[in-house]
Amino acid sequence: MHLYIAGTGSALPESRVTNDDLSKRMDTSDEWIYSRTGIHERRIADRKETLSVLSAKAAEAALENAGIAPEETELIVVGTSTPDCVFPSCGCEVQSYIHAPKAFCMDVSAACSGFLYALHTAESIMRTDRLKTALVIGADTLSRHLDWSDRSTSVLFGDGAGAVVLKGSDSEKDGDILGTVLGSDGGRAPFLTCRTQSDDPYVRMQGQEVFRFAVRTVPQCIEEVMTKTGMQKEDIRYYLLHQANARIIDSVARYLKEPAEKFPMNMEKTANTSAASIPVLMDGLNREGKLTRGDVLVLSGFGAGLTWGAGVLRY
Ligand code: ACO
Repeated sequence: MHLYIAGTGSALPESRVTNDDLSKRMDTSDEWIYSRTGIHERRIADRKETLSVLSAKAAEAALENAGIAPEETELIVVGTSTPDCVFPSCGCEVQSYIHAPKAFCMDVSAACSGFLYALHTAESIMRTDRLKTALVIGADTLSRHLDWSDRSTSVLFGDGAGAVVLKGSDSEKDGDILGTVLGSDGGRAPFLTCRTQSDDPYVRMQGQEVFRFAVRTVPQCIEEVMTKTGMQKEDIRYYLLHQANARIIDSVARYLKEPAEKFPMNMEKTANTSAASIPVLMDGLNREGKLTRGDVLVLSGFGAGLTWGAGVLRY
């Protein structure tokens, strides 16, 4: 069975917070943040814009884009590390909101790699159970877990949700997920934590360690997945990378000796939306008409855990 992306959607909170806004609240500047990260602004969720609401809006937009009724959905997998509650899962909340009674639903936690982990989980289940329609969502509201007095972390993140509809098909002409590699290293967990039950419940990060990890691991796992799928660089239309930091993406492009135009970015307006960043980026490209059926895309993310992953798909 072939599994292709039939539609994409995204949802960002209403409230825009610029670097200049932040510089009124803490000792920082647009110059410092933008030159180190490529971020100018982010969206911050209010109380009503829960993770489930943002996820459901992204899911509805993806279903509409695919021309598929919510009732056809058989599986919902949400990649997130910031659920609104311990239970029910965000997946079940989305099911109720969009009305998808046939679906079974779950969340997958892998921080900023969450969308790739969710996509691989959904793909594996669909192939095993021969399901025809699934929603895969990447969503996070990390703003709720930031220490706004810590300028080294709070300026980096934003909230949002992105979704894709995965469709099963017997026709080779439709796209497919061609291969995935995932990895984790719990030994390096202290580099990036958010221990909500502890005395220090906020996001804490050793920024330079995470930076070093990302610039080494992302190109390695991209090369690994390209070898696994038999892809050459000239086959790749776009590399859709986790939107944490423009300097990390520039470094990956240089390492792979690929032109910057193949690495679209949107963190300027969204900041790091964690598990949402790859599907939000993909939805933006789709709605701008920049994705064509048959394009080969490389997806790659990294994040807390530590976790990482890369996938190749024919759109
Ligand atoms: N504004 C102004 N100055 C600041 C700010 C700020 N917002 N934050 C830190 N500084 C200061 C520091 O205090 C330090 O000052 P000092 O030299 O007087 O001590 C100086 O700037 C340099 O700080 P560094 O931390 O060394 O800055 P660096 O150049 O390493 O950039 C950054 C920091 C942007 C965080 C970088 O390390 C980075 O991008 N790391 C990767 C982060 C990342 O991608 N995280 C996402 C992981 S995904 C997930 O799963 C959540």
